[in-house]
Amino acid sequence: MTDSLKELREQAISELNTTVDSNVLDKFVLKYFGRKQGRLTNVLRSLKSLDDKQRRLVGAEANEVKIEIWRLIDLKRQNIRNAGKKEFIDLTIDGKKPSLGHLHALTQVRREMQKAFQSMGFAVVELPQIESDYYNFKALNIPPEHPARDMMDTFYLKESRIRNQESDKLLLRTHISTIQSHLLEKYKPPFSAVSFGRVFRREATDARHEHTYDSCEGLLVGENISLGNLKATLSELFKQLFGPLVEIKFRISYFPFTEPSVEVLMGCIFCSDTDKVGSEPRPKRRGGKGCSVCGNSGWLEMVGSGMTHPKVYEYAGYPKDQYTGFAFGIGVSRVAMLKYNIPDIRLLYQNDQRFLHQF
Ligand code: DAH
Repeated sequence: MTDSLKELREQAISELNTTVDSNVLDKFVLKYFGRKQGRLTNVLRSLKSLDDKQRRLVGAEANEVKIEIWRLIDLKRQNIRNAGKKEFIDLTIDGKKPSLGHLHALTQVRREMQKAFQSMGFAVVELPQIESDYYNFKALNIPPEHPARDMMDTFYLKESRIRNQESDKLLLRTHISTIQSHLLEKYKPPFSAVSFGRVFRREATDARHEHTYDSCEGLLVGENISLGNLKATLSELFKQLFGPLVEIKFRISYFPFTEPSVEVLMGCIFCSDTDKVGSEPRPKRRGGKGCSVCGNSGWLEMVGSGMTHPKVYEYAGYPKDQYTGFAFGIGVSRVAMLKYNIPDIRLLYQNDQRFLHQF
């Protein structure tokens, strides 16, 4: 190949290599293949002046270079077009909707309960999840050897004491009844308050039990408060949560910090006629007919409660027999499960979007 052809080829290739846009590519084509002054066109045109042998030789070489460079030009054009495609922005395509999120099922239920209590004049308070043994147990009439402690396997915090006493070991509260003594110490009766929050139990989990769950505790203290007031309060709560025909009843029970203690049962919302409203006659049977949710009893256990035990007042430094009041504990997770018909409590704590988006 003649030196000048070789040089022309190398130059052309290196120019092509640095070309990234189609205007420059067009100019390149003109520079080498323009009809009048194209560099390769000139070479081909000059073949005329060569003798036969030379013309054939140089002609063949020049042709090869021409074919090679055209191939490279085509390739380059394709590359430029493809690169352009990547950058193309179609402004007419709908945007992706950002996922806004919403309140967790538990938060929704908590707010509903809160609203119901506030409508009855209860204050809403929040207290720490880390507690001392004193407020979790002792002040609630559960001394160290009391069998009720077995009902609540406890997470203790390592090496943590306040006031250096065994009874002031720190722990994760096993129930939210811990608010009782705090409130009794802080406020002067009459007062009423509820608190919502997490509680912790060192126990195995299953569809009905979690080691961490949401609970609600309420307390009302004054003079001449009776079980009747407790019944009216909880009845109003469940009517606001589950509809105006919901019925409740008491069943005698035992808790160390209440005397008498009662369990509050609500007519099963799945098998009783609680959805009838307005002028419909009330069902004779207050509970349900019986179904798998209520274990065929027609009633659901909803609340642990009772009249606050004299010992609890005593620990809080109250004079004997001056005040009466009631306390109650309700599983917020349980209310959420019933309200939304959720079969497994663990679903509420797993943060699975597919589950959460349903509420
Ligand atoms: N603290 C109890 C629990 O978590 C529930 C409870 C029972 C609360 C009776 C109360 C009560 O206020 O009076 O199992």
